Amino acid sequence: MQALIHKLAETHSLELNEYEALITNRNEETAKLLRNLAVRTRLEIYGRDVFVRGLIEISNICKNDCLYCGIRRGNKNVERYRLTPEQIIACADEGYELGFRTFVLQGGEDSYFNDEILGDIVREMKARHCDCAITLSMGERSYESYKYLRSCGADRYLLRHETADKTHYEKLHPSEMSYDNRMKCLRELRELGYHAGCGFMVGSPFQTNKTLAQDLKFIENFRPEMCGIGPFIPHKDTPLRDYPAGTLELTCYLLSIIRLIYPPVLLPATTALGTINPMGRELGIMSGANVVMPNLSPVNVRKKYELYDNKICTGEESAQCKDCLNNRMEKIGYKIVTARGDIKR
Ligand code: SAM
Ligand code: FES
Repeated sequence: MQALIHKLAETHSLELNEYEALITNRNEETAKLLRNLAVRTRLEIYGRDVFVRGLIEISNICKNDCLYCGIRRGNKNVERYRLTPEQIIACADEGYELGFRTFVLQGGEDSYFNDEILGDIVREMKARHCDCAITLSMGERSYESYKYLRSCGADRYLLRHETADKTHYEKLHPSEMSYDNRMKCLRELRELGYHAGCGFMVGSPFQTNKTLAQDLKFIENFRPEMCGIGPFIPHKDTPLRDYPAGTLELTCYLLSIIRLIYPPVLLPATTALGTINPMGRELGIMSGANVVMPNLSPVNVRKKYELYDNKICTGEESAQCKDCLNNRMEKIGYKIVTARGDIKR
């Protein structure tokens, strides 16, 4: 395993079966070696800086029915909400004052946010805060839509691929959703000049070490500017409620591997990681992650954007508590920085 790990650190590439072996045969020793190499790699590029993104959850209305997701359209127990353009812009204004220079607008696939409305919001945010980056995470849209939003000023787009195995994808999604379209969207975003983010849930139902190896190979080939991975956490009102959550251990292990696959990648220690363990985000950073995404949504909607059970949303993950987050990062030798935090390559 040691030889494989050194090969990965030097060539940033492994064969599919080697990625699988690295996961299957993992132990404390392999984890430590990967972690040390990942941290060293990240230090060389980003030092001890941790970038922050202000996350604004703009709507929990969604036309999709992803089997794992708490805000899927089939969940009748969700109290639905949608922020107004004015509310979204006010969140960004508040975030700017707090020192955020990247805003992520995320939501379900809510047809209210057509190109005109979303484009106007992006343009207004850019006009008010021209030194900020805007990331969209609004799901699958047409090429024309992505193109238009890019022309309005959107810089980055997060669209997790969810799994790079088509059969696995089909087990996690209803038949009207397609793996091919998800992948097509990612290629189009790239072609349009967005900084693109892919990613997947760790420990999602039906995931195997082989499908994880496929995810890693996909990341190696796609070289995403950003990569969001976090543990799957079941939601009580979804068909996948009885499946176990992904683990902190495997998530951190994969964060280290992904850092070594593509050293400059922007890698968040996600809210889901902070939800399964109170030290999750710190341990993510210590495994090679370099981004955190505190919540900037209005406090009264945060609980309604419940993708999984017990999502943390009122404590130190909140944007208003940037100082507490900074204290936590300082305790482990890192610091939160006010910067757009673009990829360095
Ligand atoms: N609608 C957009 C999309 O599909 O990309 C953005 C919102 S979607 C809720 C954001 C991400 O949440 C998904 O890509 C998925 O990986 C993650 N997610 C959904 N349900 C989850 C769960 N039960 N546990 C962990 N992550 C989950
Ligand atoms: Fe649409 Fe989760 S099913 S955001």
